[in-house]
Amino acid sequence: MKKLVLTGAAGRLGSYLRGPLSRMCEEFVSTDIAEAPADLAPNETYVKADLADLDAMVTLLEGADMVVHFGAIGDEAPFEALLGPNFIGAYNIWEAAHRNNLRRVVYASSIHAVGMHKKTDFIGTDAPHRPDTFYGLAKCFAEDLASLYWDKRGLESVCMRILSCAQVSNPRAVGTWLSYDDLIQLVQRAIDTPVTGFSVVYGVSDNDRAPVDNSKAHHLGYRPKDNAEQFAEMIFAENGPVDPQAPANTHHGGPFAAVELGNSGMAHLNLNSDDLGKT
Ligand SMILES: NC(=O)c1ccc[n+]([C@@H]2O[C@H](COP(=O)([O-])OP(=O)(O)OC[C@H]3O[C@@H](n4cnc5c(N)ncnc54)[C@H](O)[C@@H]3O)[C@@H](O)[C@H]2O)c1
Repeated sequence: MKKLVLTGAAGRLGSYLRGPLSRMCEEFVSTDIAEAPADLAPNETYVKADLADLDAMVTLLEGADMVVHFGAIGDEAPFEALLGPNFIGAYNIWEAAHRNNLRRVVYASSIHAVGMHKKTDFIGTDAPHRPDTFYGLAKCFAEDLASLYWDKRGLESVCMRILSCAQVSNPRAVGTWLSYDDLIQLVQRAIDTPVTGFSVVYGVSDNDRAPVDNSKAHHLGYRPKDNAEQFAEMIFAENGPVDPQAPANTHHGGPFAAVELGNSGMAHLNLNSDDLGKT
């Protein structure tokens, strides 16, 4: 591939993806609203830009084959705070990709697009949208953009509904964990699968207790290698019994299903500090 663009490149997941993605293309362009990372790859150019600026996105995607879109506010927040980066930013990426004739958008969607489904429902990739927050609503909006731009403009997309890409630090994550190695494999397959049309896939490792079904995304060839069961005994012992009636435990969205609209869900996830720092 000649030119590949990664948004959200200064973020946590972007930091894990920059190296592997830079090796899949001749010219790698990484972008974020934050300052440039210190360790740019030899073929990497960094552009500081705001997703909410359509002209900047159109310029950024000039000559690109694909864009891997990870930039966003990654938590629940008031609608007005999400409107620029998560809603308008998503429109700008699909519109800029269309104007520049890109082949595909590979998108970091989220389980929170379907977070109000019950955990006891083993939902597939065709489960109807059921967002748990404004953050999840923005993921639904972007997935619908992906569907619309495929149907009307022939622009392919792979929407990866990531569950929990962080160290396993709470009982929910024993089911929802996506290891960093599996994240990299998932994004690589989303890029190098010859034909994807409009595809949806769950970003989850091969966990014994994974609560979602990826059988309709088999064509992507994503075969996760890691399994959070290795952490189960320790995590369950550390955390003790969970309340089986609490919405945070009964819904796919976990704590996001329980918070008031506009309030942080991440604050309730008990993430380790090394997962919250930039790597
Ligand atoms: N980490 C997870 O478990 C998880 C789960 C589901 C979905 N996701 C999605 O994956 C993506 C990356 O998540 P992350 O954990 O790395 O989050 P992160 O917050 O570390 O990274 C997001 C990046 O987007 C950038 N950004 C925010 N607003 C911007 C704007 N207006 N213009 C340009 N860049 C902007 C931020 O500066 C940040 O570097 C996000 O879209 C998130 O919603 C992550």
